Amino acid sequence: MYSGLPLKIGRTASDGTFEADVLAGLSKRPRAIPAKFLYDAQGSALFDAICELPEYYLTRTEIAILRDGVHQIAARAGAGRQLVEFGSGSSVKTRLLLDGLADVSAYVPIDISGEHLEATCRRLRADYPALAIVPVCADYMELPLLPWLPGAAGAAKLGFFPGSTIGNLEPHEAQAFLVNARHLLGDDGALVVGADLKKDPDMLHAAYNDSAGVTAAFSLNLLTRMNRELGANFDIGAFEHDAFYNSDEGRIEIYIRSLRSQSIVVAGQRFFFEAGERIHTEYSYKYSLGDVDALAAPTGFIRAQTWTDPDELFSVHYLAAV
Ligand code: AVJ
Repeated sequence: MYSGLPLKIGRTASDGTFEADVLAGLSKRPRAIPAKFLYDAQGSALFDAICELPEYYLTRTEIAILRDGVHQIAARAGAGRQLVEFGSGSSVKTRLLLDGLADVSAYVPIDISGEHLEATCRRLRADYPALAIVPVCADYMELPLLPWLPGAAGAAKLGFFPGSTIGNLEPHEAQAFLVNARHLLGDDGALVVGADLKKDPDMLHAAYNDSAGVTAAFSLNLLTRMNRELGANFDIGAFEHDAFYNSDEGRIEIYIRSLRSQSIVVAGQRFFFEAGERIHTEYSYKYSLGDVDALAAPTGFIRAQTWTDPDELFSVHYLAAV
């Protein structure tokens, strides 16, 4: 009998790669720490606050697109799908699909954090008692297979990758993700993916430089996390948030910049920062519809339908397996 506990596959957040990844990232030039480490408990709470900011249009726009488009998504998907979510995400968006799709045969959330997964599943189990919920604790960039589900084994799969999380990936990584998703979802599979659209650079700049300073706090929380978990001695006031739109690359770039020359100890290792020297923490790629087509072309998916808001700020795509 299925236990309801997350099925752990491969490497997960509890395997403690933070120290090794930080030391490697601070040692290389340019210095860079992977964006996934922004989401400790405090970082996740700050990201939830970002989603409520007036300047951060992404979350509320995507929710509106999904709310308006879910019937068309359901018509494309047909009845009885297994819903496979990459990242256990916001339950608001998941619930829109669970409520709008016909006869979902199982919900399979994949997340690298066992704690996030358990919180997500606890909330959903209370409201969907008849739904088979099968959490998988894994890094979805590396997941080789999905669990075999009695009762839903023959069901076609519908993947869900909302939030413009794909924008955090560099194009070659996004393509590798799609190739793996295509493999996991199968020949009768499809993927619903949210992507932020290219737009006025001033609007993009404001979304990552909010006037309340929440995005800056979210970035700089990485220093606080290193102080707490790696015994580092960063003086948070001696660094600043630096985010800007690089139009040549079509991406927001986010860095933590040292305000003066200083020496920092992290996990017993000393690092020297020049005044103005930066640590890269995030890219947030912005897509045109043509960019999505080019990204999907070699991955075995075709963009079958796209939904946007009236101002064309954000896009949701139905990628069908070819
Ligand atoms: C969660 C990756 C979609 O890129 O907009 C928001 C993260 N970073 N503000 C984004 C983020 C700073 C966000 N994603």
